[in-house]
Amino acid sequence: MSRNELLEPAPGPDDDPGDGEAGLRPRDLGEFVGQGELKEHLQVMLEAARRRRQPVDHLLFAGPPGLGKTTLAGIVANELGVAMHVTSGPAFERAGDVAAILTKLEAGDVLFIDEIHRLARPVEEVLYPAMEDFELDIVLGKGPAARTLRLDLPRFTLIGATTRTGLITGPLRDRFGYVARLDYYTSTDLEAIVTRTAAILDVSIEVEGAAEIGRRARGTPRIANRLLRRVRDYAEVRGAGIVDAPTARAGLRLFGVDEVGLDKVDRAILDAICRRFAGGPVGLSTLAISVGEPTETVEDVNEPFLIQRGLLMRTPRGRVATPAAWAHLGLEMPSAALQPQPQSLFE
Ligand SMILES: Nc1ncnc2c1ncn2[C@@H]1O[C@H](COP(=O)(O)OP(=O)(O)O)[C@@H](O)[C@H]1O
Ligand SMILES: [Mg+2]
Repeated sequence: MSRNELLEPAPGPDDDPGDGEAGLRPRDLGEFVGQGELKEHLQVMLEAARRRRQPVDHLLFAGPPGLGKTTLAGIVANELGVAMHVTSGPAFERAGDVAAILTKLEAGDVLFIDEIHRLARPVEEVLYPAMEDFELDIVLGKGPAARTLRLDLPRFTLIGATTRTGLITGPLRDRFGYVARLDYYTSTDLEAIVTRTAAILDVSIEVEGAAEIGRRARGTPRIANRLLRRVRDYAEVRGAGIVDAPTARAGLRLFGVDEVGLDKVDRAILDAICRRFAGGPVGLSTLAISVGEPTETVEDVNEPFLIQRGLLMRTPRGRVATPAAWAHLGLEMPSAALQPQPQSLFE
């Protein structure tokens, strides 16, 4: 693989390969919309690294899918003018797999590990000395005759991405020089992202059309881009090819996105809690089964957004629908729901 090929992030497991996201990814921090504080931190860190002619410290990006973790890793590599090697946690089966990729790195290179919370423990342990001291310990042989061979590695930057900060072990987390949590984007930021993408894809769009899509994109750039493509399809087939507000509204309705941006699965989750489980509490796996989605999807994709919008709550006994959820579904909230359960003396 040439160094240039390495620069373009490969589509991650949560990417939408059919819709070609590669051309939409911002290439530098200036193009990256929103996340102001994080961008400023990166600007300072990148500038300092450039001045010292040193690689930037290891970075961890955490947050729900589609918020720009892979994009940011690419931007860091691009701004430093270094190659990025892309891999993911589950791709490493044995400790030797890490050694293979680490020994390919050149000084300053970025190693991007997506879904880093899914690294196997023995693999993770090889990373510790590599991250901390840029050393690789290779064990030769087995049993009493085993010997350790220590290799020096070039200084590199590890960038990890995760949808679950909670699943990152303490020792791994501690070895990152900077941990960033990406937040859901504001409607204004998403409107700007839709406008930018429309220009790249050559879609005729009106300001109100972009605003409508931005408002309903679940706070997520990837979803904003996807909705724009669907609304464009709708505008071309059923409209005059221009994405204005009424066309955006009609197109989004057709593709099952409601006024606050909930999709079918989001609504199915709320509906299941309210109607089938009397408002909750209901356990995550029961909930996932009842809507026919993998538990991880419900936990990583749907739940964080529903919580952020105040529609769902996580309690020690399970998930609970809030009064806003009942109202959103147009259902009457039974007075028993959300009332504190009478405490049994024998619990
Ligand atoms: N801040 C942003 N500004 C503009 N586009 C963005 C931004 N963040 C993400 N995107 C777009 O959203 C898509 C998904 O981003 P990605 O980095 O793959 O998310 P993640 O790795 O967190 O799942 C990318 O194709 C990119 O075009
Ligand atoms: Mg990604």
